[in-house]
Amino acid sequence: MKIMQKILVIGSSNIDLVITSTSLPKPGETVIGDTFLKNPGGKGANQAVAANRLGGNVAFITKVGNDVFGKELKELYKKEGINCHGVMTDNSSRTGVALINVDRSGENFITIYQGANKQLLIDDIINLSSLIDESDIILMQLEIPMDTVNYIIDHAFEKGKKIILNPAPAHPFTDEALSKLFAITPNKTETEQLTGIGIQDERSVLEAASILIKKGVKNVIITLGSQGAYYVNEKEHFLIPAPHVKAVDSTAAGDTFCGAIAAELSRGHEWNEALQFATAASAICVTRMGAQLSIPTEHEVRTFIKNNQ
Ligand code: RIB
Repeated sequence: MKIMQKILVIGSSNIDLVITSTSLPKPGETVIGDTFLKNPGGKGANQAVAANRLGGNVAFITKVGNDVFGKELKELYKKEGINCHGVMTDNSSRTGVALINVDRSGENFITIYQGANKQLLIDDIINLSSLIDESDIILMQLEIPMDTVNYIIDHAFEKGKKIILNPAPAHPFTDEALSKLFAITPNKTETEQLTGIGIQDERSVLEAASILIKKGVKNVIITLGSQGAYYVNEKEHFLIPAPHVKAVDSTAAGDTFCGAIAAELSRGHEWNEALQFATAASAICVTRMGAQLSIPTEHEVRTFIKNNQ
């Protein structure tokens, strides 16, 4: 039997306030919404919850504010069964909040108030470095300060950890940081920001991916929404098409995808298996409203894959 690797997710925690409406508002426009939903979110927390629900052994480093939202989130992470040793409270900040508009096709606009996420600092990571030492896979996104992200990359790389970076929201990166990544999972927009190549077709996907591979990233996974995900390494490349589903809300689909990859790799699976599992997990996620509310369990994903073969 293969030994399960440990996953450490480091990133943001938010409370998401979601309004659905027929269309998304344009600048200066007010639209009347249909439904309102408050649910736990934040790219870091969504990925930690996803990796955990999808069967991974997960620890989470994050910061919440000393308020009702912060207390609520801490309780939820504990209930999920996540190792919460690295879940901290910042007494001088509010918990992060995301205002999300979702339209009839499931597309969204998100505005984030970072709050306590902005206070996740290098000193916090130094204090919690034993969590990095104990883990095998480090999963990160960019809703915390970039200094902290760069410190984690340097430190985790030195310790020989597999770093998976979901470069969202898009932010420029140094070549040195890229060279230390085991995997990167940009969407089309983030790929263009990182490489300067607009993603239109297979050729542009391969061109962009080869730029990242040349910079030293070992595994490049470009997510293409309803078209699936494209995998590229030095030797091979392939597309994993996304299962066809009726999308109601795409929030946290990318986070579910990343958490699923980490969970499946931690069980010793190969990339093609991990990506099939991840595309199925995010396909289920888009059929439901909300961020963490919409993340499936491992059992749901296995059943979905069986029924869609
Ligand atoms: O990726 C989706 C997430 O982005 C939401 O849950 C929201 O909190 C923002 O961080």
